[in-house]
Amino acid sequence: MTVAIRYFTKSKKGNTKKLADAVSAATGLKAEEVSVDLADKADRLFLINAMYAAQIDPEVKAFLERNAGKIGEIVNFNTSASGKSTLPMVKKEADRLGIALSDREFHCAASWIFINKGLPTDEDFARAGDFAKSML
Ligand SMILES: Cc1cc2nc3c(=O)[nH]c(=O)nc-3n(C[C@H](O)[C@H](O)[C@H](O)COP(=O)(O)O)c2cc1C
Repeated sequence: MTVAIRYFTKSKKGNTKKLADAVSAATGLKAEEVSVDLADKADRLFLINAMYAAQIDPEVKAFLERNAGKIGEIVNFNTSASGKSTLPMVKKEADRLGIALSDREFHCAASWIFINKGLPTDEDFARAGDFAKSML
């Protein structure tokens, strides 16, 4: 099975980049930003993202739109300050584009301004790595 990792990080904290680095280290696969299109078909796309203004970022949506034909199934990895998952937002895009989406996902709460200081923890990153390995 071929697996690709793409992430989008926006805040100065770079929580999503840290999550992507943890998943990359656990799986040995390179994590690239969503600005980098898929070169080849991926059976699974580990889509590592976060919630902004109750949405996923337009750059994440644009990546999915550009690469829809190359993605077998999306596996969602995400953080938010509220603890709410981005899965429903990713599902909306996946359904619109006809891409399969795993109902198994990784989510954890993350810091934002003064909220959730210290999150994700090292334990969260380790859990993300374990989940990623289980989805290879
Ligand atoms: C501009 C902005 C808007 C955000 N809006 C929400 C939101 O609506 N709901 C929520 O739960 N978290 C929200 N957050 C928190 C982020 O989901 C959280 O900090 C995430 O880990 C950010 O990832 P990043 O550091 O990779 O950008 C927001 C963060 C930013 C920077």
